[in-house]
Amino acid sequence: MTDRPVALVTGASRGIGRAIALRLAATHDVLLAARDAAALRRVAEEITAAGGRAEALVLDVTDGAAVAQALQGRAVEVLVNNAGVGVMKPLLELAPAEWQRMMDVNVNALFHVTRALLPGMVARGRGHVVIIGSIAGRSAFVGGAGYATTKHAVMGFAENLMLEVRDAGVKVSVVSPGSVETAFSGRSAPKGSAQLRPDDVAAAVMSVVNTAPEVLVHRVEVRVLSPKRER
Ligand SMILES: NC(=O)c1ccc[n+]([C@@H]2O[C@H](COP(=O)([O-])OP(=O)(O)OC[C@H]3O[C@@H](n4cnc5c(N)ncnc54)[C@H](OP(=O)(O)O)[C@@H]3O)[C@@H](O)[C@H]2O)c1
Repeated sequence: MTDRPVALVTGASRGIGRAIALRLAATHDVLLAARDAAALRRVAEEITAAGGRAEALVLDVTDGAAVAQALQGRAVEVLVNNAGVGVMKPLLELAPAEWQRMMDVNVNALFHVTRALLPGMVARGRGHVVIIGSIAGRSAFVGGAGYATTKHAVMGFAENLMLEVRDAGVKVSVVSPGSVETAFSGRSAPKGSAQLRPDDVAAAVMSVVNTAPEVLVHRVEVRVLSPKRER
């Protein structure tokens, strides 16, 4: 690593997290966290090939003890809590393990990772916690009883944390995308409907990260202009 600021992206092995890591690498040394070591290595190589610096952290963010150990002593300026899972099913079809996994990755891991890095941010008087939410964090749909519930919790977590740490100089933002073209939840979009690309979300994250020191953009919602129109 260099003397550039450090950013940590969870869920950086693919999809939106990978796109965010690639963009952040223009200005930051990037810690890439996820479970798939080979995929993380590929993202790290992409960043290195483009002249940036990255370190792969093979980490299950639901394992609080492992997270605390891996992040101990790391001075991270920008934390992007992106890792997430979605099982879209009506409650009556949702298995207890599916409910639990969404709670663990989408909600409990937010606590583990943020709790590990926030003391350093507060002590330094600066830092930025960015969380990838979802439009499902403020709306409801059939099949969202588990997933949308976790994303509503994300919105609550983010706003409470923002009020708690802003006077310490730490920013908290939520970027909430609509449907994005990734392997997320194993579903594909309805035929003929347009989706965001992962890099569209990464661009929104960069716009939030690159605000003036005294300016906080707390919430951003990103959508395709028209889901019915080809991009
Ligand atoms: N795609 C969409 O339509 C959409 C819309 C709105 C919001 N979002 C949100 O965007 C975020 C990223 O989603 P995506 O579409 O990029 O999904 P994705 O392609 O499935 O990627 C999910 C990422 O999360 C990581 N992850 C899952 N469980 C983990 C664990 N226990 N520990 C560490 N990392 C873990 C995965 O890495 P490993 O498997 O290597 O661990 C992977 O890198 C999620 O928070 C999701 O809720 C997505």
